[in-house]
Amino acid sequence: MKRSRTAEGGAPRLAEGVGRLGTESAFAVLARARELERLGRSIVHLEIGEPDFPTPEHVATAGIAAIRRGETGYTPSAGLAEFREVIATELAQSREIEVAAGRVLVANGAKLLLFLTILAVCDPGDEVIYPDPGFPIYESAIRWARGLPVPLPLREELDHSFSLEDLSDRLGTRTKLVIINSPNNPTGGVVPAEDLPAIAELIRGSSAWVLSDEVYRRIAYDGDAPSIASVPGMIERTVLLDGLSKTYAMTGWRCGYAAVPEPLVDPLTRLITNSVSCVPAFVQAAGVAALTGPQDCVTAMVDEFRHRRDLVIGGLNALPGVSCRSPRGAFYAFPDVSEVRIPSQRLADRLLEEAGVALLAGQGFGAHGDSHLRISYANSRAQLDLALDRIRSFLSG
Ligand SMILES: Cc1ncc(COP(=O)(O)O)c(C=O)c1O
Repeated sequence: MKRSRTAEGGAPRLAEGVGRLGTESAFAVLARARELERLGRSIVHLEIGEPDFPTPEHVATAGIAAIRRGETGYTPSAGLAEFREVIATELAQSREIEVAAGRVLVANGAKLLLFLTILAVCDPGDEVIYPDPGFPIYESAIRWARGLPVPLPLREELDHSFSLEDLSDRLGTRTKLVIINSPNNPTGGVVPAEDLPAIAELIRGSSAWVLSDEVYRRIAYDGDAPSIASVPGMIERTVLLDGLSKTYAMTGWRCGYAAVPEPLVDPLTRLITNSVSCVPAFVQAAGVAALTGPQDCVTAMVDEFRHRRDLVIGGLNALPGVSCRSPRGAFYAFPDVSEVRIPSQRLADRLLEEAGVALLAGQGFGAHGDSHLRISYANSRAQLDLALDRIRSFLSG
C-alpha cells in the first residue's frame, strides 16, 4: 500500500512528550561552573549531590577482578542471582522485613528504577503524590507518564517531614502512587518513626502503591531513618528503592536496586529489557563486595558528613538573613534565605557568577522550595570554609 505524502514534506518534529520532561538544575549549574573554571575562575562546588570520597578500595578491586575474569557480557535484566540474594538479605536485615530474592530487581541507578516504576503504574490522569521540595525527577517522570503531579509539602516546622493531614487531604480514589523520600533530598528531612503506622494506615485506605526512595538511608545522623516498608503488610504494596551511589560513593558505577511487589516484578523487568538490558556483571560483583564486605568505610563517611553538617549549619546561621535547620540525614543543607531580600534563583546565580560558589536555588525542587538554597556539603571542610567566607563577603558587600 502506498502511503500518502504531503506535497512539501516539512521539517521533522519532536514528540510532544519531550516538552514535558523536566531536568535537574544540579547538572546545568555544574556545566556553568565548569565553564567558569575553564575561564580561570575559582569555584567551590556545592551543587552536585555525590559523595566526594573514592569508592572503597575493596569494592573497586572486586569490580576490576570481575573485568579481569572476563565478566563483561550481558546479564539477566533483573540482575545476577547472587547479587539479588545479597540485596534481599541486606534489605531484610536493615528494615526487618522478609523479601524473597525473586522480588529484587537491579538497574542502572535508583533513578532509572524510580522512572520505570512511575511508567509501570501510572496511566494518563492518575494522581501521584510526591514530596515538595523533592528530587526533581519525580515530577518530571510523572509528567512524562501523563500523570497528575500532586505535591505533598514538606514543612520546615516539622523538620522537613510532612503532616498526616496534608497526606490525608491529597489521597483519593485517583491516587495511584505515593512517593516518600526519607532522608530527603534536598532538605535532609527524615520521616519520624512514630508517624509511619498512621501514614501506612492512610495509604492502606486507598489503592495506591508506594515508592519509598531510601537512597540516603545509611546517611542518617540521629539513628536509623525508618522505612515505611517495615510497617506490617506495607512491603506488599511498596517499591523499596535503594542503591550503591550514595552509601558507597559509587555514583558513576550506576547501580540501584529495589524490592518490589510481586505484580511489578515482570513489568519492571520488561521495562529494563526494553531500555538498558542489564547492569554490567562487574558492577554487580562490586555491589556484592560493597554489601557483604566491611562497613567501616560507610561509618567513616557518615562521621565526616556529620562534622561537615555541623560546620555548615553553624556557618550558615551566622550569616545575615540566613536561617537553617540542622538536617537529620543526607548531605544537604536547605537554608531559608527569604530575609536576604534577593530572590533565591537570582541569589544562586549571583553567588556563582560573582562569588564563585556553585549551589542551587530551592525552587528547582518544587514550589515549596522557594526562598531557599540547596547546599551539598559533600565537599572538604576547607572548601566549605572557603564557601562560607565567600558567601559572607557577598552578603555583607
Ligand atoms: C532522592 C534521590 N533518589 C534517587 C537518586 C538517584 O540515585 P542513583 O545514582 O542511584 O540513580 C538521587 C540522586 O541524586 C536522589 O537524590
